Amino acid sequence: MTDAPVSTNNSGKSRKSGKKIHPGSGRRKAPVYNKGRQLDQGHEEEIKALLGDRSRQHDLLIEHLHLIQDTYGHLSAGHLQALAHEMTMPMTSVYEVASFYAHFDIVLDGETPPAPLTIRVCDSLSCQLAGAATLQSELENNVDPANIRIVRAPCMGRCDIAPVVEIGHNHIGKADVQSVIAAANNGETHAIEETRIDLDAYVSGGGYELLKACYAGKYNADDIVKTMQDSGLRGLGGAGFPSGLKWKIVREQPKPRLFAINGDEGEPGTFKDRHYLEQDPHRFLEGTLIAAWTCEIEKVYIYIRDEYPAIVTMLRREVGRLVDMGLLGETQVEVRRGAGAYICGEESAMIESIEGKRGLPRNRPPFPSERGLFQLPTLTHNVETVYWARDIIERGPEWFSSQGRGEGNGFRSFSVSGRVKEPGVKVAPAGITAQELIDEYCGGMADGHTFKAYLPGGASGGILPASLSDVALDFGEALFKHGCFVGSHALIVLSDKDSVRDAALNLMEFFEDESCGQCTPCRNGTAKAVELMSKDKWDIDLLNDLKTVMMDASICGLGQAAPNPMASVIRFFPEEV
Ligand SMILES: Cc1cc2nc3c(=O)[nH]c(=O)nc-3n(C[C@H](O)[C@H](O)[C@H](O)COP(=O)(O)O)c2cc1C
Ligand code: SF4
Ligand code: FES
Repeated sequence: MTDAPVSTNNSGKSRKSGKKIHPGSGRRKAPVYNKGRQLDQGHEEEIKALLGDRSRQHDLLIEHLHLIQDTYGHLSAGHLQALAHEMTMPMTSVYEVASFYAHFDIVLDGETPPAPLTIRVCDSLSCQLAGAATLQSELENNVDPANIRIVRAPCMGRCDIAPVVEIGHNHIGKADVQSVIAAANNGETHAIEETRIDLDAYVSGGGYELLKACYAGKYNADDIVKTMQDSGLRGLGGAGFPSGLKWKIVREQPKPRLFAINGDEGEPGTFKDRHYLEQDPHRFLEGTLIAAWTCEIEKVYIYIRDEYPAIVTMLRREVGRLVDMGLLGETQVEVRRGAGAYICGEESAMIESIEGKRGLPRNRPPFPSERGLFQLPTLTHNVETVYWARDIIERGPEWFSSQGRGEGNGFRSFSVSGRVKEPGVKVAPAGITAQELIDEYCGGMADGHTFKAYLPGGASGGILPASLSDVALDFGEALFKHGCFVGSHALIVLSDKDSVRDAALNLMEFFEDESCGQCTPCRNGTAKAVELMSKDKWDIDLLNDLKTVMMDASICGLGQAAPNPMASVIRFFPEEV
């Protein structure tokens, strides 16, 4: 008889274990000394004082990181460690989150903190068409880097006034070197609120009467769901899922239920949500509260991108006023601030971000309506989708459904930018064509520009030639058969002065930057595509292979849609590549 193999376990004692791995044998010895950095008392006291009596709940991590970044201009390693200690979280979790979001500056021991003022120059497509690259290099040549840091940044949701620059938290449109430097020198670095219809004006126009009638039992939730279904309203964040049906599905889920409003609006070319939040924020808030009442929601989280700082402040204040007026009913509402990550517009990534984590999209099923925020059934909606709820219920579903051209149903808010005379948000019938939109709503092409191509759905929705400007701009087959989609209804117009291949490269660089890195086809695929698309001559076979892998194997819509513009160039503009 031979002895069984002998293994050594944690405690160092020998055990006869046979061929099997003994349970527990993989555990490591407890460390005999504390690893990692020592907690610094000064940092600990500063963080304690900064957080004050704020909750230490883990989902507030991003809010607390903002607090430190806003106060100190960066996140030092010592502050991160003190925050982890204060929130009883592992340092790795805090570091992972802080390093995921573009608006946090981590400064390790011995590193120099960033300059006191940061100027971000938007380099996404509409701003690039308006000369952002030149603006950025001129700014770099004209500022003292010890005082001002110039960085590039993705779309800031103001593409109609390109090129756009953010000085501290102040956004400047149609920017040039002189205006930017003057604003920086004058300390114009704070966000400027632009609310048009305030609470008093909204209430005097009949605002919140519908909500009060719901609370008073004058409406029935099932009838409201039916009205929303009959109106044909579809999700306006990009996917176009029927909204009434979503309310119905959520109402069938067990309680408690939550609601996450998507105000991330990161799709380059899109700025309609900002428009509505600035023009008429209470119509949005009333729509949100009606949806919450109908679906018996316990708590609403409104997630707003960090590029809209004045809107975050305004919404927090206005929600407070609604609480004072007793208009929140049974519902709690909390406004959360994003931190610079396009992927957090994807609803499951937004949910992760609201939970205080990195914005990594989740696999589905389960869908958020079944298991979303904190694993509870969650209604998710784009800002604009709920904005229409009050009008649809008050005016009746036909008011909305009777709009539309051709097969189109309802109206849509197109964010139009690029080479048109009058860019901006255009409320037009669903199913309108690009040519009609340009001619009837945008005053035609900009002077000196001939219509060459257009993006029907922001960065992700592909590119079409002007010869296909008669295609209906709506969800579904009409665009799909050309490899495109309307998504968030962001129309970017290109002219004979523009290179479509350069536009596609700009978009792919955006996707490379914004990929969350969770899956290989997207993380490596976007990087490889940028490399191939930067060459004078494109390797079409290789790019087509890459496209297939990315579309078939990426986890979420970012990686699946990223090859669309590149595929459009190969299909419609072969002479450019
Ligand atoms: C990469 C990616 C980015 C997205 N960004 C946004 C966004 O910024 N805002 C938004 O409302 N929806 C965005 N969506 C769509 C959301 O996942 C989701 O469909 C939407 O918020 C649901 O609300 P709705 O039904 O009202 O449209 C994005 C989707 C993907 C795949
Ligand atoms: S497709 Fe891209 S963004 Fe989406 S999960 Fe994968 S790596 Fe992240
Ligand atoms: S603000 Fe620059 S592209 Fe949108």
